[in-house]
Amino acid sequence: MQKNLILIGYRATGKTSISRQLGETLQWNVADSDRLIEQKAKKSIAKIFAEDGEPAFRNLESEVLFEALQKRPLILATGGGLPMREANRILLQQFGKIVWLKASPKTILERMSGDPNTETTRPHLTQLPPFEEIQYVLEQRSPIYREIADLEIDTDQKPPEDIAAQIASWLQKESVKTSVC
Ligand code: S3P
Repeated sequence: MQKNLILIGYRATGKTSISRQLGETLQWNVADSDRLIEQKAKKSIAKIFAEDGEPAFRNLESEVLFEALQKRPLILATGGGLPMREANRILLQQFGKIVWLKASPKTILERMSGDPNTETTRPHLTQLPPFEEIQYVLEQRSPIYREIADLEIDTDQKPPEDIAAQIASWLQKESVKTSVC
């Protein structure tokens, strides 16, 4: 059975741009859990957090994940917090090859500050100032990302095209392994 390709990682680690690049390379469909949520809720993530609360957002996240994974083969860029729910992790591991995109807190802050979508899609997760929030949440999440990742890639120094090419070549080797086993 062909698996999906799942990109996980903290905010602004390149999941969306790399997934689009990979879609072109592999000629697979591409989806983004955040966009699916916004389509379903018919409002921005910032509004969902503000009006319905983070737990409502997390429930929508699990719903769109389940729905998206039915459409194989798919490249799925996931919101940074999606793997924190155990049920989501089980689904990801069952239906996908998982790539963890990493970046330092400094890079993440720079990218988030430079991204015009941050305001509508990335509400605060804590009461901490931005840099401290990134450090804190990343520290909490990293062991969980690591636990489910089949491949880890540092994105600090590399352009999205190079990372997409690296993932595509890894995936090809993985498919050969799977078909031989
Ligand atoms: C979140 C990350 C965001 C979005 C939401 C929550 C998180 O997605 O799902 O703001 O908990 O880290 P990106 O990782 O695509 O920015």
